[in-house]
Amino acid sequence: MRPGTRDVFGRLAADGGAPVREKFLPVALPTVGEAEKQAVIETLESGWMTTGPKAIELGKRIAAHSGAAHGLAVNSATGALHLALLAWGVGPGDEVITSTWTFASTANVVLHTGATVVLVDVDPKTLNLDPARVEAAITPRTKAIIAVDFGGHPADYAALRPLCDRHGLRLLADAAHSFGARFDDRPVGTLADATAFSFYAIKNITTGEGGCLVTDDLPFLERAQVLSLHGISKDAWKRYSSAGSWYYEVTVPGFKYNLTDLAAAIGLAQLHRWVEFDAKRAEVAARYDAGFAGVPEVARPYADPRVHHARHLYTLRLDLPSLTVDRGRFLELLKAENIGTTVNFIPVHKHPYYRDTLGFRPADFPVAERVYPAIFTLPLYPRMSDADVDDVVTAVRKVLHHTRVS
Ligand SMILES: Cc1ncc(COP(=O)(O)O)c(C=O)c1O
Repeated sequence: MRPGTRDVFGRLAADGGAPVREKFLPVALPTVGEAEKQAVIETLESGWMTTGPKAIELGKRIAAHSGAAHGLAVNSATGALHLALLAWGVGPGDEVITSTWTFASTANVVLHTGATVVLVDVDPKTLNLDPARVEAAITPRTKAIIAVDFGGHPADYAALRPLCDRHGLRLLADAAHSFGARFDDRPVGTLADATAFSFYAIKNITTGEGGCLVTDDLPFLERAQVLSLHGISKDAWKRYSSAGSWYYEVTVPGFKYNLTDLAAAIGLAQLHRWVEFDAKRAEVAARYDAGFAGVPEVARPYADPRVHHARHLYTLRLDLPSLTVDRGRFLELLKAENIGTTVNFIPVHKHPYYRDTLGFRPADFPVAERVYPAIFTLPLYPRMSDADVDDVVTAVRKVLHHTRVS
């Protein structure tokens, strides 16, 4: 049977009908198992829990996997983004352009350097930075652009790379969602001057909390490495091993962004499973695409034919004029059917700090303003079964059936 064609006419669970699922399906879950457990146990038994050989190894493996020469494993993508800006010397008086369609940390880190964040609107199809709007926002103070690969779809690097070269700007990829993605068959990791991955619990591979900064520029990465551990010499992590020394010097007031070996061990185990994870994410997305084909009230996510999509998120956009409810109520009705959802993202310019303190105005973000009330994210993770996916499709179609303008 075609997914999602059963049960759609039954009474809504919110109105006392039977929910599509008996058990709640969360919107995101990590996929970890025996290999990860063993890796943690081995690390605990090794006596080296914090940053050490496994974190170094993970940085190297992530770089190799993403086509970059060097990698520094850190405790978040947020840390990786912050370190990259600092290692380029971005600071007060500079401007950094990024997307309003992102998690707030992409913009927050710009402010932490003392620079000014310039938010711009997005392409309506991908919700990635609109290169024309980026170009229009460049001033003599612009130092860098942070591209965000929303949902796992790489940004338009074919436009952004030459644009940055023309204006002498650094290009930083916020690849929190796009580990393993490719653009024109080139891996994310080779498309910008530096790339930040996230290994947060629900990302395409995870270390619980974690991230990695990759680049071809070794002196840049060495500066980031020093900044990542209090500003002390780059092999600071060795100081409790026989290879280290008690003596160190603080050359710059750095941060505490290092990744523990405990976390890195999980990441190394996850990396072995990436091919399986990537294929499964693609399979779930394709099953959703089939389930929602020909449903006029929802638009499926767009994928540019030039990209290999990392399928971190599967988003739908509601055609609100054809529905009797708003997005908030729609998601409540799905929740009653035992389907978890979320919204990615609340555009940065809408958060109180950015709106009230920095003064960003909705009128400058027509695409984000139009899409935000209509978009939501469905469950997508490797451990979902076909039946889970079909339940989601059924629940969405059921709620649509009951909320369609007649
Ligand atoms: C687009 C984007 N950038 C950056 C981050 C920050 O990642 P982390 O939690 O690893 O700091 C996230 C987190 O979800 C994100 O979605």
